[in-house]
Amino acid sequence: MEQEKKQIVLSAVQPTGTPTLGNYLGAFKNWKIMANDMADKYDCFYAVADLHSITVRLNPADLRRQTLEMYAFLLALGIDPEKNVVFIQSHVPQHAQLAWILNCYTQFGEASRMTQFKDKSEKHPENVNVGLFSYPVLMAADILLYQADFVPVGDDQKQHLEITRDIAERFNGIYGDTFKVPAPFIHKSGARIMSLQDPTKKMSKSDTNPKGFITLLDDDSVIMKKIKSAVTDSEAKVYRGEGKDGINNLMEIYSCCTGKSFDDITAEFEGKGYGDFKTAVGEAVIAELRPVKEEYNRLMSDKAYLMKCAAEGAEKAEYFASRTLRKAMKKVGFLQLDR
Ligand code: TRP
Repeated sequence: MEQEKKQIVLSAVQPTGTPTLGNYLGAFKNWKIMANDMADKYDCFYAVADLHSITVRLNPADLRRQTLEMYAFLLALGIDPEKNVVFIQSHVPQHAQLAWILNCYTQFGEASRMTQFKDKSEKHPENVNVGLFSYPVLMAADILLYQADFVPVGDDQKQHLEITRDIAERFNGIYGDTFKVPAPFIHKSGARIMSLQDPTKKMSKSDTNPKGFITLLDDDSVIMKKIKSAVTDSEAKVYRGEGKDGINNLMEIYSCCTGKSFDDITAEFEGKGYGDFKTAVGEAVIAELRPVKEEYNRLMSDKAYLMKCAAEGAEKAEYFASRTLRKAMKKVGFLQLDR
């Protein structure tokens, strides 16, 4: 943390149940690479965004359990909590405080244009709460508090990063440099993993057909079965091509798990059928997820350790967050107590 030269990475995930293989290959694996393998370049802040979760009505016991589970997943990925800051958003009060301030620098019109807000309010007309509306502002606070250079996000969050940049630039324009204007970080290997049953749709745990997705906690035999029953085509040739969505997806999965290029994969399965290919994909996924699953189970049986890491993460996060919040409050003109 001492070297100011390192660039700051921030990302967050909502505690919404067991992550899928899609979440893992599309996001978490890259979080881990940035935090560990590129630790000389980046200081990483990763949060469980529990404040964001209550825009939907949740059972309190579920929220508590899922928050701890998601925190355990982050550590199970192999992200070192000593070298990085892994924390739970609601433990750092500055997030909500800065969000209020930024609400006053966000226009009703621009927040109304967020496609996620429009989608979610259409899908849940019974609970279009103000929190859902100002959700991107809280996300802006998450990011700006840590002066983040980069924010690894998926496609669905790009618009929220755009509004974050707009809010930061507006505030800086009025008060002078206060916030770093963050850039999105799109990994070239930022895989988009599709449903195993309908490979034109993104893999999602809200899929009504559980065969469409693999979760990080699926048993090995379940993983193999789901891969074996993945939808393919009738050509029986392993290569990337149009109209081969199922095979394209399995190749993507295999490539992410093994590091092999698409050409290598095509060569490897030359003259072989989809059965052999699927077995290899299944084995690669099992091998990839096994250490995460084992570490997750180990961590979940040691709650005291998890809570200790969460407390240390919160303390470190608060140190940085409070610096930025103090600066922003001073600029706005809040009377400061000398203490
Ligand atoms: N909104 C993000 C999602 O649902 C989670 C999130 C909250 C986030 N705060 C963030 C992502 C800050 C990146 C940066 O996926």
